[in-house]
Amino acid sequence: MSHITATPSVRRVAVVGAGTIGASWAALFLARGLEVVVSDPAPDAETQTRARVAEAWPVLEKLGRIVRGASPDALRFEPDLDAALAGVDFVQENAPEREDFKTALFARMDAALPAHAIVASSSSGLIMSRLQSQCSHPERYVIGHPFNPPHLIPLVEVVGGNQTSPDAIERAIAFYRSLGKHPIRLNKEVPGHIANRLQAALWREAIHLAAENVASVADIDAAVSQGPGLRWALFGPHMTFNLGGGAGGLSHFMDHLLGPVQTWWADLGAPEVTPELRRQLIDGVNAEAGGRSLAELAAQRDSQLTALLKALER
Ligand SMILES: NC(=O)c1ccc[n+]([C@@H]2O[C@H](COP(=O)([O-])OP(=O)(O)OC[C@H]3O[C@@H](n4cnc5c(N)ncnc54)[C@H](O)[C@@H]3O)[C@@H](O)[C@H]2O)c1
Repeated sequence: MSHITATPSVRRVAVVGAGTIGASWAALFLARGLEVVVSDPAPDAETQTRARVAEAWPVLEKLGRIVRGASPDALRFEPDLDAALAGVDFVQENAPEREDFKTALFARMDAALPAHAIVASSSSGLIMSRLQSQCSHPERYVIGHPFNPPHLIPLVEVVGGNQTSPDAIERAIAFYRSLGKHPIRLNKEVPGHIANRLQAALWREAIHLAAENVASVADIDAAVSQGPGLRWALFGPHMTFNLGGGAGGLSHFMDHLLGPVQTWWADLGAPEVTPELRRQLIDGVNAEAGGRSLAELAAQRDSQLTALLKALER
């Protein structure tokens, strides 16, 4: 029986773990005018978090995501986890991706949380049924997996474990929607959720093509970014092929092209990533970067992503 009953709206959010993902979530929560308390034991965590939020703020402003009265100064940093969790409605957990670590962390958080609070884990691939196994109130725990950076990319993958209540899943989805995110619901747990599995499938073949010297790393990347990647910002693979079938839609597309596609499936690779292949990929991506630093590439990604999101919203 779930002890999560009424559906109080979320006002106070705790961000537990404020590295790359946690700090970005904190920026979004602050922009939406929520009370945000951040907890992270790293000695420089408060400084780092405030710096990352300040960096994200102008982009959020450009996207029109900041509600009246919201301010980055509303962030409260609380290194003591129990104190951070007092009175919160929702927790977004972003601690290191280790099953044993998160399992122990959840059991500890469980004892300090108000009865109605929901906990969403950003975990990229861990299984919630295992993470919630040591909790007294496992029904409140869900996966709420974002994409980097969560303050910009709309997708959140939501899935419960075998002890999660349907109510907790629905409340998490409603909360993410209220932030302007695009939550999707998984009907069952799978390692890596959906989007990372799709990325992994594509990357596996991209590595295979590089290993077979079909093209350079830069050209294989361009085969995505200058081609189907542009359409994928608008429609996923099923809808893309629905349009690829002309007037007959997906049905015609499958009559016409599923046969050839199936022969390609049979030919796809499962490369063994040897030290030599690793080197080839790293050298290839460095050549593709053409002297641009990682910071420059990330700045380019964020500014073009902002322009793209603005264009899509129009
Ligand atoms: N980096 C990504 O692209 C990405 C994308 C989506 C989801 N995620 C997931 O988000 C989570 C965090 O990943 P990240 O990339 O931000 O890692 P990170 O290493 O940047 O941050 C982890 C943070 O957790 C803190 N931490 C350590 N012990 C803690 C504790 N007991 N309580 C609270 N905080 C603690 C660390 O000090 C660090 O700041 C992982 O579960 C990861 O799978 C990562």
